[in-house]
Amino acid sequence: MFGFNYYTPTKVVFGKDTENQVADLVKEFGGTKVLVHYGGGSVVRSGLLARVTDKLEEAGIPYVTLGGAVPNPHLGLVYEGIELCKKEKVDFLLGVGGGSAIDSAKAIGYGVANEGDVWDFYDYKRKATGCLPLGVILTIAATGSEMSDSSVITKEEGLVKRGYSSNYARPKFAIMNPELTMTLPDYQTACGCTDIMMHTMERYFTNGGNMEITDALAEGLLRTVKKNALILNEDPKNYDARAEVMWAGSLAHNGLTGCGNDGGDWMTHKLEHELGGLYDVAHGAGLAAIWGSWARYVYKDCLPRFRKFAINVMDVEEVGSDEEIALCGIEAMEEFYRTIHMPTNLRELGVNPTEEELALMAKKCAIGVGGEMGSAKVLNEEAMLAIYKASM
Ligand code: NZQ
Ligand code: ZN
Repeated sequence: MFGFNYYTPTKVVFGKDTENQVADLVKEFGGTKVLVHYGGGSVVRSGLLARVTDKLEEAGIPYVTLGGAVPNPHLGLVYEGIELCKKEKVDFLLGVGGGSAIDSAKAIGYGVANEGDVWDFYDYKRKATGCLPLGVILTIAATGSEMSDSSVITKEEGLVKRGYSSNYARPKFAIMNPELTMTLPDYQTACGCTDIMMHTMERYFTNGGNMEITDALAEGLLRTVKKNALILNEDPKNYDARAEVMWAGSLAHNGLTGCGNDGGDWMTHKLEHELGGLYDVAHGAGLAAIWGSWARYVYKDCLPRFRKFAINVMDVEEVGSDEEIALCGIEAMEEFYRTIHMPTNLRELGVNPTEEELALMAKKCAIGVGGEMGSAKVLNEEAMLAIYKASM
């Protein structure tokens, strides 16, 4: 088992009507002028945005708004947000929405707090030395960005999707009212559940470290999300299931399920980010489409973990060889994806890359990870291409 830093400074305010506390929380963390940043309009339609700005007005906190963060959020809007914040002397960011609005807010925060081009951080050219303080009102359980150190931005030129992580961008507070997720389309709910499970699985399928307590937390989280995703599949307004999934989403990506291991595998995410950049697919669906091919490519190099996953998470019987049990676990996971209407290959995802596009994605992915990466199995460009081809 390895040593680790566990840093989760985000104050979580969880439960019904918690968005009403937004003004107090902004004040608590020193905000005197706020940029309220949101996505394509779901928070306008649901009335959440108006409720939030009303609360700020009642409390005498000045604010400006900027909507338009698209799924796989764009760098262009980040630049716009940075200019707006500088012009309006904004000192606090409030991301209202999903991972895209939150990540876009984080990037704006880097751009305001640091000189030069914010893309440099996502292009691994230099490191940020700060970020404007940020609070979050979450409307979709998925990325865990509400507690995570990461943000993922797409540069329109060249369709390059890259993540940047630093503790500066961990939100000061996260307001999580499970009821706010009830307006989600079923597809987005399923995408979110997939992403939450994948954040845990990326840290679980590793060949370094591994602690019993971390495994127990991870397996419990995976079983809980699987069970409640199936409940939401039938009963989308089920509050308790919404709440279980929402809290799981935060715990899956705040570092808890990685303590003691070697940092995680993360190759399914890296392979998906190329799909998201090039084809603008929903992140969770892209992960589901690629995971089975990745798993079959790597499982022999990480057999004890795949066997454990099959038995402890997917309820596979302990019958047959380790390889047979591991493969049954992979098949059971894909069956689960199908049940919640997630794709298990690129065709079902709705994309049909040419040979050249597959090669381009593998090349960009390899560049993005500095040549090779992975813990279950280290993958180079050739291996990445093989997985993309297997997922067709
Ligand atoms: O844009 P609006 O109109 O708000 O609609 C969104 C969007 O169309 C909609 N939505 C969200 N909450 C809703 C709702 N519709 C109705 N009712 C609600 N309550 O759902 C759609 C998806 O929203 P988005 O924010 O894009 O989803 P998600 O939270 O899955 O974020 C995806 C982005 O986060 C990145 C992904 O790569 C992708 O770019 N990730 C960020 C991570 C992080 N910061 O830690 C880690 C992840 O692995 C991931 O890479
Ligand atoms: Zn993810």
